[in-house]
Amino acid sequence: MLCFHHVGVQTDDLDNCLNWYLDYFDAKLSWQLERFSGLTLDRLPGIAGLIEVRVGDVRFHLFDRSAHNRQQPPAVGFQFQHVCLAVDSADELRELRRRWHELHESGKYVFARPDLPSDIVTDADGIQSLYVLDVNGLEFEFTYVPGSPRD
Ligand SMILES: [Fe+2]
Repeated sequence: MLCFHHVGVQTDDLDNCLNWYLDYFDAKLSWQLERFSGLTLDRLPGIAGLIEVRVGDVRFHLFDRSAHNRQQPPAVGFQFQHVCLAVDSADELRELRRRWHELHESGKYVFARPDLPSDIVTDADGIQSLYVLDVNGLEFEFTYVPGSPRD
């Protein structure tokens, strides 16, 4: 059996990324690393710092790369295109959308892309979704599935 552990987020500005993840997700800093194994250095040349932030059972591993090119991956190439997190209510979707705008308008973060959050959309089965970008331009989906217990 598998269960979800963490998402690795590669950024060019670890402070900016950390602050946004802490504030947007109301996350807590778990631990940080500045020394890495040979395997990590082979996999991620130029990594200088890695910070785990956590909200509930969801962990994000934020790390920078010294030679980051500030480019997005090709839109139609192989990639994990978005990460979807489930919420417990439609109200939470509205709050995530409101908070995204609040943080964006605060001027405290640098955003890689100008895109604003989507509307909250409802599909034919009544499942609601919201799509937002993080400060790096990485896409999150938040979904509310009525009547579907999360555990
Ligand atoms: Fe999705």
